[in-house]
Amino acid sequence: MVEKLWGGRFEASLNKQTEEFGASIKFEQRLAPFDLQGSLAHVKMLGEMGIISADEAGKIADGLTEVEQKLMSGQIEFKIENEDIHMNMESYLHDEIGTIAGKLHTARSRNDQVATDMHLYLKSVLTEVLSVLTELRQTIVNLAVNHVDTIMPGYTHLQHAQPISFGQHLMAYYQMFTRDFERFEFNIKHTDMNPLGAAALAGTTFPIDRALTTQLLGFDKVYTNSMDAVSDRDFILEFLSNSSLLMMHLSRLCEEILLWCSFEFQFVTLSDAYSTGSSIMPQKKNPDMAELIRGKTGRVYGNLMGLLTVMKGLPLAYNKDLQEDKEGMFDSSDTILTALSVMTGMLSTMTVNDVNMESATQKDFSNATELADYLATKGIPFREAHEIVGKLVLDCTKKGIYLQGVSLQDYQKLSMLIEQDVYEVLKSRTAVARRTSLGGTAFDSVKSQIEQAKKELQI
Ligand code: ARG
Repeated sequence: MVEKLWGGRFEASLNKQTEEFGASIKFEQRLAPFDLQGSLAHVKMLGEMGIISADEAGKIADGLTEVEQKLMSGQIEFKIENEDIHMNMESYLHDEIGTIAGKLHTARSRNDQVATDMHLYLKSVLTEVLSVLTELRQTIVNLAVNHVDTIMPGYTHLQHAQPISFGQHLMAYYQMFTRDFERFEFNIKHTDMNPLGAAALAGTTFPIDRALTTQLLGFDKVYTNSMDAVSDRDFILEFLSNSSLLMMHLSRLCEEILLWCSFEFQFVTLSDAYSTGSSIMPQKKNPDMAELIRGKTGRVYGNLMGLLTVMKGLPLAYNKDLQEDKEGMFDSSDTILTALSVMTGMLSTMTVNDVNMESATQKDFSNATELADYLATKGIPFREAHEIVGKLVLDCTKKGIYLQGVSLQDYQKLSMLIEQDVYEVLKSRTAVARRTSLGGTAFDSVKSQIEQAKKELQI
């Protein structure tokens, strides 16, 4: 039976099931290096401030370094009886240096320790997220560079609407992922804050120096209010919310990829490295990875809803409910980091079947707006032009032809304003080229979006 670090007030030992139920060590082992980092900063500060002697501080710091080395060489065995990461680490410190280890917890509580660990952990995750998100944005821009001239149908209601450049379609995703990037970047502001020194909730009577631990831990700022410091999980909620938005964008792109690589579309072909086979149907090449990213969006949303619900009724300051902040955050960070790099790999290895994309714009009425605009430019009110073209489309549908297949004679029966130049206007490439309004799909417009993106990415 391991003696509890909080055992003084208790006569009987903890029920086994209760012990297991309450322990967070099963799922928070990844916090170990951050917990040691927090302890090291704390003990240095205790020594500097004369709260413990310099000699004691030195011994504890050396002991913590020993524990760190054991951790890195895989010699640490985490124990349920030690409940959480803080007590597991402290118990190893005790094994290293004996009772003096007990001085480490002066002017400190597990409440500010756990908050510190979570801030340090998330800060490191955010740095990684920004870097993998940048790789994805670069991949999208590179793909767009190669496909400014690739024509495809643009859709509304999943029906052919107007021809667009595939580059324009891709750059729409660049914009979404750039907003995600900015949100994660902002997330750092509320994560790069030091809660250490809040103690249990009300601060401490010891003359601690919170500015010093802030500096030692590399945090940008210190929490202004001790109660806020130990009960705030907004920085995690922001992360879970930003992750949800990111997954929503990834999932939309996955949905499009899934459509594009179906037999009906055949717009793209995924590399074998990102596809799997079927155990029964030998011909199958399934886009599992895109489906899985789409599917994992659900768990990331779930993690956000989970923690929002945990937080909604919590009185200040610390409550054990807060222990539920971890699994969702770890799960979401693992999920988004993997999803981002799988998406980057999938996009950079897929083949774009530009011939199929363009020919999909020749067997449709996606040039109907061109004809209506053509008539409107000749002075016919747009509403009337719309009506004329609508009727013509109906007629063509019955005859099984497209607008470019209507003879000039038939066009002139509709309006003598229609001349030979209409056939140039009806070409999908012309339709794309002429959409020069700001942000439109014209080739030059896509090129300038790409130029802007390259500046943002510094590539
Ligand atoms: N394992 C706890 C958590 O994750 C650490 C803080 C425990 N504090 C306490 N007063 N029981 O939230």
